[in-house]
Amino acid sequence: MRVGVLTGGGDSPGINAAIRSLVRFGATHGVDVVGFLEGWRGPMENLVQPMTMADVSGILHIGGTILGSSRTNPFNETGGPERVIQTMQDNAVDCLVAIGGDDTMGVAHRLAGYGVKAIGIPQTIDNDIALTDYSLGFFSALEAITDALDRLHTTAASHHRVLILEVMGRDAGWLSLMGGVAGGADVILIPEEQFNVDSIFQKIKRRELLRKRFSIVIVAEGATPEGHGGQVVDEAEVDAFGHMRLGGVGQYIANRLSERMKMPVRVTNLAYLQRGGSPAPFDRILATRFGAAAIEFALEGTFDVMTALHGMKIEAVPLGDALGRPRPVPEGLLYMVDLFE
Ligand code: F6P
Repeated sequence: MRVGVLTGGGDSPGINAAIRSLVRFGATHGVDVVGFLEGWRGPMENLVQPMTMADVSGILHIGGTILGSSRTNPFNETGGPERVIQTMQDNAVDCLVAIGGDDTMGVAHRLAGYGVKAIGIPQTIDNDIALTDYSLGFFSALEAITDALDRLHTTAASHHRVLILEVMGRDAGWLSLMGGVAGGADVILIPEEQFNVDSIFQKIKRRELLRKRFSIVIVAEGATPEGHGGQVVDEAEVDAFGHMRLGGVGQYIANRLSERMKMPVRVTNLAYLQRGGSPAPFDRILATRFGAAAIEFALEGTFDVMTALHGMKIEAVPLGDALGRPRPVPEGLLYMVDLFE
């Protein structure tokens, strides 16, 4: 059997660990693996390279993806699906493993209707893919956020300031909520609950009355101000899957807080630092398990599914059930937003 692997969408640490596991587990189970470059562009344009044990040696701890990524969507291109199928035939590829988020795995699911055998590995720092406890990359991004908040604490205390940290997560608040708890943020703002600047101001004033020298606010890029009519966007840029580029909510809050506060307010946007660096141990282990499971599913003939973490188990979940549905922070975790209020 020959498996073709591609990595699409926003990258994260852990992808290389999954590629390594596909190749190494495949090698001991009679499965040959080839790599397609730059996400779905690779299968469309026949950008393919063999993946040997030597190619994956020493990449477990390296962030990003050795195959490169893109937000290419074959369904936006004339004859895109047909070109993918032709490339698979030309390279004798039996099935594809698509490592990525909703968009990347969504293409794999749509291609099932063209007879393409594919398996998804859920990967996005946003952790917003349904029917898996965690997506690859989430815990590595959490490490970056926690480290950033630890660093912001020391400088905030030195200058008696309000510091705002804007983090990614698109339409879900997993990174902001869990990162805020891990890093001890004083105010946590997530897309799941609209916010108003006056409430933030009141929280900070209460802290001042307790003689707290500083306050730290963490805000998800997708958090929505009350009365703003939607998310704050930096540029009206839309990607190949129709997603607006988010960004700027931190400055939005700072501008309005500064009008009312004597204490200086400063903004840090963690941006792509959340997507870089070496994978957290959890992600290395999850990636290794996901890669091996994808090979097992292929050998069993189980396709149009994704590898999913359910407690301690890795199970196959139909892509049609998992994709195209939001995965906000569940009600049961929202108590952590203002746990100490
Ligand atoms: O989906 C992962 C993610 O990092 C989101 O959190 C963020 O909004 C988006 O990708 C950024 O997209 P790009 O990498 O195309 O700028």
